[in-house]
Amino acid sequence: MSKKKDELNQRDTIDHTQDAPLRTNHGLPISDDEHDLTAGERGPTLMQDFHFREKMTHFDHERIPERVVHARGFGVHGEFELYESLEKYTKAKFLTEPGKKTPTFTRFSTVAGNRGHSDTARDTRGFATKFYTEEGNFDLVGNNMPVFFIHDAVKFPDVVHAVKPEQHNEIPQATAAHDTFWDWYSQNTESAHMVMWLMSDRAIPRSYRMMEGFGVHTFRLVNAEGKAHFIKFHWKPKLGTHQLIWDESQMVMGKDPDFHRKDIWENIEMGNYPEFELGLQIIPEEDEFKFDFDVLDPTKLWPEEDIPVQLVGKMTFNRNVDYYFGETEQVAFHPGHIVPGIDFTNDPLLQGRLFSYTDTQLNRFNGPNFQQIPINRPMCPFSNNQRDGFNQMYIHKGPTAHHKNRMNNNQPAPLPPEQGGYEHYPETVEGKIGQKRPTQSFDDHFSQAKMFLNSLSEHEKQHLFDAYSFEIGKCKSMDVKNNAVAVLNKIDRGLAEYVAGKIGATVPEQVEASTYDKKSPALGIDHTTSSL
Ligand code: HEM
Repeated sequence: MSKKKDELNQRDTIDHTQDAPLRTNHGLPISDDEHDLTAGERGPTLMQDFHFREKMTHFDHERIPERVVHARGFGVHGEFELYESLEKYTKAKFLTEPGKKTPTFTRFSTVAGNRGHSDTARDTRGFATKFYTEEGNFDLVGNNMPVFFIHDAVKFPDVVHAVKPEQHNEIPQATAAHDTFWDWYSQNTESAHMVMWLMSDRAIPRSYRMMEGFGVHTFRLVNAEGKAHFIKFHWKPKLGTHQLIWDESQMVMGKDPDFHRKDIWENIEMGNYPEFELGLQIIPEEDEFKFDFDVLDPTKLWPEEDIPVQLVGKMTFNRNVDYYFGETEQVAFHPGHIVPGIDFTNDPLLQGRLFSYTDTQLNRFNGPNFQQIPINRPMCPFSNNQRDGFNQMYIHKGPTAHHKNRMNNNQPAPLPPEQGGYEHYPETVEGKIGQKRPTQSFDDHFSQAKMFLNSLSEHEKQHLFDAYSFEIGKCKSMDVKNNAVAVLNKIDRGLAEYVAGKIGATVPEQVEASTYDKKSPALGIDHTTSSL
């Protein structure tokens, strides 16, 4: 193959701003792009009009399935800069060389709505970042809330079905204002804490530039000596955290459904680059059982006053995309994309996610080659023995594609861990196969929900009380309303009474004790006064 042809095959951008003749996809110049080819001036259109057929066929196939969750999103390019070496905790190269800069791509999203939904709906926001490191892509696929609805992945399809519009009529588009959502809530009380965040102002951010991000799960950092720490990832916006109020968010939804994407796009265009600091909460492995929450439970947060967030670097968004579909729509994140020095834990939700993302992307991209799309490619050199499949983009050179071949001089061979090859953390595992969670830790569904409530200022509490009243009040079934209020009664009597009064529901006679008042035996933390 000549060098020129080779270069053409490698090309992945087309500059449509340059003058060039209009051509078909196989390169033929076109002389007429306005009229179909007909037999006679008023006669039938001819099948031999290849330009019409190609253009129309391409148009007919322009859509790919939207993401099953997080369908509506907006992506921005950026750069991550490390403040100080974290070699004490990890051997990941992008976290050990002070001042090192790593290119990033971040996609913000809403969760429940479809692609055409509105930016300011009450919902969780996705905050997913791809770090293009020299050791491969690291994806931090987080949300703007520190906890999640469930701790077992097998319930994810159920919670999403409950959150999305009702099955029979696709009404309503709103995340929480309907019977299926509150029916879910009353019977799956591990959601109580997350729903507290969802009913708070955190669910209606003022701007993507002004919200926090959380990795939610507990990950592991592993250093060069093999010593591990449990960690949680955080993003802290330099502009601080700001929210809309509910009436504002509803007005904006009507007047400008693209409010958040315009806001971040315009600020980047103006050179007003949004900045987020990366933070870590760190717990040594030997302290795993010293807390009154389970460090593996994604429905619990680690209180920041007890385990402070250490700021370790800064991400700056400095470039908008050139092509929304090619970048924002085709980016494929995966919580399993990690690099040496970062590892998973036995958090059961995280383990379930490790299956789901590639599985859904095989559907979204019609085959296994979506990692070859420019926005998904690693920026480090790479090579392996995977070949063929729908939409293969590379010209693979060399006759072999098998392990340990003796025919190529430079075959892709595994790299020993000392030289940078990935090695899983050798965690000791024991126990009997079963479907139980540790009851003392995972089954405490209300303590942190109450802690969250106590951390709010008076006006934030009022917004939250009104949000519960508004959303539960939209339910048609009185049973569903009463059951939802019964769960609130387990968190806070005042909240239950307020909401019941607003929507005509019944409050249970008894104040149900939550486990909230207990103190951590190890740290002596009094959560009745905790703030977040
Ligand atoms: C997107 C599954 C929990 C954050 C997705 C997608 C699926 C999925 C199927 C669509 C991916 C795509 O089409 O590319 C699951 C499952 C979960 C889970 C099965 C639990 C078992 C979570 C949690 C978080 C999260 C706990 C936050 C920490 C996100 C984000 C996206 C996403 C930010 C959008 C990524 C993008 O912008 O492309 N999830 N998810 N998910 N998920 Fe999850």
